[in-house]
Amino acid sequence: MKKLIAANWKMNMSMVEARNFVMNVLQSAKDHPNISDKSEFLICAPFVYLSALSPLSEKGVLSFGAQDCSQHEQGAYTGEISAKMLKDVGCSHVIVGHSERRDYHNEDNVLVNEKAKVVIDNGLTAIVCIGESLREREANLQKEVVKRQLLESVPKNASADNTVIAYEPIWAIGTGKTPSLEDAKQMHDFIRELLKKYYESGENMHILYGGSMNPTNAEELLSIENIDGGLIGGAALKTDDYLAVAKSA
Ligand code: PGA
Repeated sequence: MKKLIAANWKMNMSMVEARNFVMNVLQSAKDHPNISDKSEFLICAPFVYLSALSPLSEKGVLSFGAQDCSQHEQGAYTGEISAKMLKDVGCSHVIVGHSERRDYHNEDNVLVNEKAKVVIDNGLTAIVCIGESLREREANLQKEVVKRQLLESVPKNASADNTVIAYEPIWAIGTGKTPSLEDAKQMHDFIRELLKKYYESGENMHILYGGSMNPTNAEELLSIENIDGGLIGGAALKTDDYLAVAKSA
């Protein structure tokens, strides 16, 4: 399967910076066609930029996603954005359950499941984020935590066509720390077994690694079986770094 090189811009970038970034990525994909043979770009941009950026998407090369959406289909929910609206402006993916949403907005597995479901029901792909905290890792509870998050956050009708899993150990996000290659491999293998057991076509579902992936560690991480791409924050704010990660795939 092609590696999915997903940028999570979070609350960063101006409109001009966003457009320049995308143009640079497209130019680089044109100059190095072998990148697109092995990997695909996905940029999860702030809501307000999506309708301006999505006409620049190229099938099999670069697509656009959102970083969250409402669990509701539509209605009186001031300030919320629906999955249907995201589809309407040309998004293909929506991140749900990022640890920053779980932490700062009190999102729990039940809510993340509802959001993923509405994303899938609207014909989009849900990127469901899971991952343990430092305290849980230190207590050696990471597998237990990740299993519970996965089974409770990923809807029953998830399949390789409509769902991507992002394993992001919280202690690795934005910290410059990453798990050892052995620990990363163990967790991704574990997630793969769960997906095979509980979900249709779970053997083919993309499992992304996220948390301080950068040009220095990407090659090693992306060479691990069952790491099918990255969800990249800090290193996806500079085109050169983002492209370097893609090249290492
Ligand atoms: P980071 O963020 O690459 O800056 O660690 C990843 C993420 O939060 O998705």
